[in-house]
Amino acid sequence: MSYIRSAAFADSGYVVLDTYNQAADPEEWLDLTFVDWKSSGDTRFAPIASAFGQMECNGFWNHTPPRADKDGVWVQGNVERAPILKARAEEPGANVGRCRVIELQPNDYETAVYNLHQDDNNRLNPDGTGWIVRGFFNLSDNPDSVLILREDRFDPSTEVRIPLPAGSRLIVDTQRFWHAVWHTGPEPRFSLITSWTSGPELDEYIEKYNGKPQESNPPLDQKVIDDTQTEVNRRLAERAAVLSAKGKAKAQTDDED
Ligand SMILES: [Fe+2]
Repeated sequence: MSYIRSAAFADSGYVVLDTYNQAADPEEWLDLTFVDWKSSGDTRFAPIASAFGQMECNGFWNHTPPRADKDGVWVQGNVERAPILKARAEEPGANVGRCRVIELQPNDYETAVYNLHQDDNNRLNPDGTGWIVRGFFNLSDNPDSVLILREDRFDPSTEVRIPLPAGSRLIVDTQRFWHAVWHTGPEPRFSLITSWTSGPELDEYIEKYNGKPQESNPPLDQKVIDDTQTEVNRRLAERAAVLSAKGKAKAQTDDED
């Protein structure tokens, strides 16, 4: 047995869909209730679907009974204020797990590279069922900000940088990629993040909106990339030494961007 995966992801691990006309919609995300939740970077989250419909963001596996990131329950207080966002999460027709709006404060490239992480979307996901991936719909207009993806956390040559203008739609296997957002600011960035189960419905949605990998990265000076990697390596080694001295294992987080 093995998981059901999208053929569109087989090589690239992510797809960029046609841009959505975000400017035609009201800014529903500004009316949502946000809660504090540990993540990479300076963030808040507004839950749209959670394990039991409560105003909280915990992984479904941390609830009783623990379960996979599927069958999310709509959070009434927030979906009443954001019916379009709910409809957009439902549009593919794929099973929805966690769904939330993230608010991310501006950061810099070094911080983003330091924050690179893999998600744990498929914890408790039964073998033979659909692999869980994540949709990222940018709500605010951040054309100079990028989602950074890396196959190898420490190898910048594997880096993909996907710009995040309003209406950009990405679907990413965030358990495969190390990822984080470099948000240049100056205002916070808002994005709708949805856990979807791979299968024919998601495949159709990807096809309908011409999902494919981007052709090239926005430019970034190679010296900046190299110097940043050197500094991040130093910081990570320093943190590992501190944790080791305290006798702690490396912190495991469930981050989102
Ligand atoms: Fe993440």
